[in-house]
Amino acid sequence: MASMSDRIPTFLALCLLFCCVHGQMNQNYYQKSCPNLQTIVQSVVSQAIGTEARMGASLLRLFFHDCFVQGCDASILLDDTPTFTGEKTAFPNVNSVRGYEVIDAIKSQVEASCPATVSCADIVALAARDSVNLLGGPTWNVVLGRKDARTASLSQAN
Ligand code: HEM
Repeated sequence: MASMSDRIPTFLALCLLFCCVHGQMNQNYYQKSCPNLQTIVQSVVSQAIGTEARMGASLLRLFFHDCFVQGCDASILLDDTPTFTGEKTAFPNVNSVRGYEVIDAIKSQVEASCPATVSCADIVALAARDSVNLLGGPTWNVVLGRKDARTASLSQAN
């Protein structure tokens, strides 16, 4: 019969496997923790496009400009502070990237429904997908589980 110490490696391997599977990105990442996420995103994007159709294009571009610098991590949303410079003032973004307020509105509703659960990076990705589809384009599945950046790069954005 295996002793307790013989079983430890198996136990650790199972823990590692659980962590990997648990932390993996997938389409149903928030299925239990935020079941209304996709409904909220689609409804806010739909309202925004109803007010101004161009906002759909702007949200797609916002996603591209986020992803272009160190991946799709919502770094483009970070405001400058006295000790931090973000990407909003980079040449391709300043007075040009639009839709921050739509992402803020989605984030507020998502936080009210499921606090501190959904990353802004995932919200931006879903908003871009819904924008394209609501304007008559195709749709696609969005794999979820992105982590938000704590840093940004003005130089790489430029
Ligand atoms: C490096 C490649 C690209 C360059 C140099 C570029 C450049 C530009 C420029 C100069 C504008 C006009 C911005 C303004 O009027 O302020 C624009 C708008 C736009 N771009 Fe790009 N673009 C690129 C790639 C892309 C990609 C890959 C997408 C889609 C994923 C995209 C989607 C859009 C959209 C939807 C708009 C209109 C946004 C709006 O009306 O608010 N672009 N782009």
